[in-house]
Amino acid sequence: MRKYKAIYSVLFVFLSMVVFSQNEKESPVYKNPKQDIEKRVDDLLSRMTLEEKVYQLNQYTLGRNDNKNNIEEVLKQKPAELGSVIYFNNDPKLRNEVQRQAMEKSRLGIPMIFGYDVIHGYRTVYPISLAQACSWNPELVEQACAVAAQEARMSGVDWTFSPMIDVARDGRWGRVAEGYGEDPYTNAVFCVASVKGYQGKDMSDPKKVAACLKHYIGYGASEGGRDYVYTEISAQSLWDTYMLPYEAGVKAGAATLMSSFNDISGTPGTANAYILRDILKNRWKHDGFVVSDWGAIQQLRSQGVAGDKKEAALKAFTAGVEMDMMNNCYDMHLAELVKEGKVPMSMLDDAVKRVLRVKFRLGLFENPYTPETDEKERFLLPASLKIAEQLAEESLVLLKNENNTLPLSGQTKIAVIGPLAKSRWHLLGSWAAHGNTDDVITIYDGLETELGNNVQLSYAEGCAFDGNDTSKFAEALDAATKSDVVILCLGEKKDWSGENASRSTIALPKIQEDLVMELKKAGKPLILLLSSGRPLELNRLEPLSDAMVAIWQPGIMTGKAVAGILSGRVNPSGKLSMTFPYATGQIPVYYNARQSARTHQGNYQDIPTIPLYEFAHGLSYTNYVYSDIKASATTIKRGDKLSFEIAVTNAGKMDGKETVHWFITDPVSTISRPVKELKYFEKKLLKAGETRVYRFEVDLMRDFAFVDSTGKRFLESGDYYVMVKDKKIKIELVD
Ligand code: GLC
Repeated sequence: MRKYKAIYSVLFVFLSMVVFSQNEKESPVYKNPKQDIEKRVDDLLSRMTLEEKVYQLNQYTLGRNDNKNNIEEVLKQKPAELGSVIYFNNDPKLRNEVQRQAMEKSRLGIPMIFGYDVIHGYRTVYPISLAQACSWNPELVEQACAVAAQEARMSGVDWTFSPMIDVARDGRWGRVAEGYGEDPYTNAVFCVASVKGYQGKDMSDPKKVAACLKHYIGYGASEGGRDYVYTEISAQSLWDTYMLPYEAGVKAGAATLMSSFNDISGTPGTANAYILRDILKNRWKHDGFVVSDWGAIQQLRSQGVAGDKKEAALKAFTAGVEMDMMNNCYDMHLAELVKEGKVPMSMLDDAVKRVLRVKFRLGLFENPYTPETDEKERFLLPASLKIAEQLAEESLVLLKNENNTLPLSGQTKIAVIGPLAKSRWHLLGSWAAHGNTDDVITIYDGLETELGNNVQLSYAEGCAFDGNDTSKFAEALDAATKSDVVILCLGEKKDWSGENASRSTIALPKIQEDLVMELKKAGKPLILLLSSGRPLELNRLEPLSDAMVAIWQPGIMTGKAVAGILSGRVNPSGKLSMTFPYATGQIPVYYNARQSARTHQGNYQDIPTIPLYEFAHGLSYTNYVYSDIKASATTIKRGDKLSFEIAVTNAGKMDGKETVHWFITDPVSTISRPVKELKYFEKKLLKAGETRVYRFEVDLMRDFAFVDSTGKRFLESGDYYVMVKDKKIKIELVD
């Protein structure tokens, strides 16, 4: 009996080896979706040559058109083993043709990952990010990002270079448009909302994409608001101003990050081992990958830290940038650097594993191709348009409303004037992806639809965006004179903000300001609608206007949202995510500055020192009455629970959504802290006459502690204040 058992088990082992090797030939571990991703990554890596590993770490652009010869030319230039391409087309066909090369012409059949800048919508373009933050509605932003992900993934894009979470306090910098404003916590909240919207719970979902936190780090501190230049960031500021959104985004599972152009106090972000390796990989344990910004590696030469592309490749790669976007540095030099022993093979392997890991998580090995569907199955779906409309409505900020000029009521003749009154293109904002001007509802059209036949609209351009041609002033003044109220649509061109769009002043061009003065002569109520990608200098326009609305660049649903607000169908709920300075000369001016040594002195001699409109400023058509703050305790010890409540009553006749911002102050601390810091916010619908309680559950280490220059948090005993608007309560933390 025992003999037979022995034979049997030898036979069994032999057979299973045969079967295994057969299976192995048919489906190696890395191709087996039933296998754990880490096993698949390791198995695939073990099969790769040095050249194949290096190619995985390179990204090229796929060109801006998809005519046939372009494909040939692209494929000849680009090896089938390439890791990634930037995909500018808006249908899956070209993607699938290029992907087929990777899957069928390469030895191991590793799918490429297709990236693109889907910043505030893919085809259903919703408001720019700076405006989104003014909605204080992260749930809605998450929904909008989910729409963007669905349209992008179904069009051949697996990976968006978004969210941009650069805290920025200088409106001269054009890219303030792309982030969520001046506050670290605000950027962190909207970062997490975006990552959740883009990635969902499973990135292999055919309607989800990988996110990319950018630009890591401190790009928003560009000196003078000039793009691509030096940023002076102390270790303390790095941690108490810039790191929070990235830490939150990594914790939320963001698949990738993008290293920044800017020189961070002498070490550019793209060659900065402290942020890329010590913090991101070793402390936060990020297991995805970092892609360089476009050209940021080879630019290390112009920043004076690399003598040539080979040294630039060495510095960026050893610092912790895994993928080279359009530098031709890694493809040209990485293999050589490994052979010379300057780059350890273990470091190269780790980088490749990170890229492969994201590709496996995206499901690209199982589904390398995008189903080829018709545009109408992908774009502008009714539910998507509703989200874009609601986000536009909730992003608009009512800055001024003298004598309840708004909402419109009873006027029968309305003059709609200005360079933006019938504009489409400029209302899409920067980075509008595949936004189509035909999809944009103009302000004029939105008003015409909203107000219907019992209102007569007149239109006049009045002036161009800039220049000095006043020849159309007379026609505009005539239209204003014959109207009951004037809606004047002013602001910026689409390309006055965004990348490489720095402006020396945040004031509107003089011709636009002159038009306001000219129309003032009509003696009619003047409503200014201001479209921009940045805060504006409005001190000369404020006294001339009866009402002012910051509409930002609301995207394709502009006209509906603006008309909804002006007509009163929608009660404005937006509040500023970035301070509006009194004048450009005040910049940088932001709410969470550190306390001055002399609050009674140090003011400007020639202009006010306080901004025109503060962070979180925003009016409503109703009025909200705030109770005093109630605390669960006013003397606490570490480890104690602490919560606050405030009751808000909608004392008006109109339902409205109100956001309560909870700030803390720590007036005396080991380091000087900002005069106040936003730690929580919540938006609720309050029906007319309704009272609702807003609650803030404090986590002392998260909300009261400060972070030092190493990123360590300290909670010190002493007095703290919790504030909501002008309400304030003191908390004593005792040992
Ligand atoms: C640009 C931008 C970056 C963008 C990338 C790809 O230079 O800095 O935000 O994602 O290149 O377009």
